[in-house]
Amino acid sequence: MLQKLNYLTVDWPLKQERLFPSVAPLIVEIGFGNGDFLVHLAESNPDCNIIGLEISSGSMERAEAKIEKRGLSNARLIHARAETALSHLLEPETVRAFHINNPDPWFKKKHHRRRLIKPATVDLLTSRLAPSGQLRLATDIPEYAEMAHEVLSRTPGLSNRFETPWVKEIAGRIQTKYEIKGYREGRGAHFFCYERNSVSAQHPPVVKELDMPHLFLKSPLDAEEIVRRFEATRVHADGAHIAILNAYANPQRNTAVFEVVAEEPTIEQHVLLSLSPREEAGQYIVKLTGVGYARPTAGLHRAVAAVGEWVAGLDEGSRVLERKLRG
Ligand SMILES: C[S@@+](CC[C@H](N)C(=O)[O-])C[C@H]1O[C@@H](n2cnc3c(N)ncnc32)[C@H](O)[C@@H]1O
Repeated sequence: MLQKLNYLTVDWPLKQERLFPSVAPLIVEIGFGNGDFLVHLAESNPDCNIIGLEISSGSMERAEAKIEKRGLSNARLIHARAETALSHLLEPETVRAFHINNPDPWFKKKHHRRRLIKPATVDLLTSRLAPSGQLRLATDIPEYAEMAHEVLSRTPGLSNRFETPWVKEIAGRIQTKYEIKGYREGRGAHFFCYERNSVSAQHPPVVKELDMPHLFLKSPLDAEEIVRRFEATRVHADGAHIAILNAYANPQRNTAVFEVVAEEPTIEQHVLLSLSPREEAGQYIVKLTGVGYARPTAGLHRAVAAVGEWVAGLDEGSRVLERKLRG
């Protein structure tokens, strides 16, 4: 059966015993594309557990079908940005090898912020590597290879396994779809292999969940009037960007829901928050709804605060009464 795992539905941090039949050394492929390399990793490392991380839903479905068809119990895919998985799912010093094949095909200046190979992400990758664990990278883009060489060779916790910055061939390696495309278009491949050395590195702990956030407020306005006055709002606080995009009222029940996107440095969540009446007349509670798999991060605490404060600012008689929020 297809697993359809994603970063919101799995344990933080991941528990191998809940994903695989047994605990084993972990290999992680980031951006597995059509999944052929990941299937090869799983088949050629039967004594290891393989986790694939991908942001493309199409790739997830296609690769998962291949894993299922071959009955590979040592491979699991998680729909997640690598940066989110590194911060929320993978514990320090637990990964035997990371494989990254042809990341970021759009290697343009304006995409620098979203680029996978950059010092902050390489530091996180390094911190997640077990002692002597390897970071293996392939790229068909010469400029990307130069840039990756700069970043990797300046990371104190990693040592180059090759005598040259990269090699052009690795015996026994299967070619990925983008590698084949690179050859066809006359670029060729650049392979890197760096190993975790004994230089101590920062080990940022896994970002954990907080308690469920909620906030009480009083307001003489009913939910329908609150929604009538709604205007899309953005708040930047504590490193999070909160966008309250839409509001919908249910006049019969005097409730409202707010559609919110919370962007934090390590995770993005698109959630619904509810405003519903309490037993005490004129009082409301703002909290997360059970829609989707919202995880109570600091950013979602900020989102509940943002909605509560916005409602409390609508009328002189409105104010926040109590916050069950972080900070
Ligand atoms: C150019 S394709 C390479 C696919 C495959 N590795 C290959 O060599 O044929 C890059 C892949 O990385 C995925 N990707 C890009 N950024 C990612 C990120 N931050 N986290 C996880 N996957 C990512 C994309 O969806 C895409 O499937």
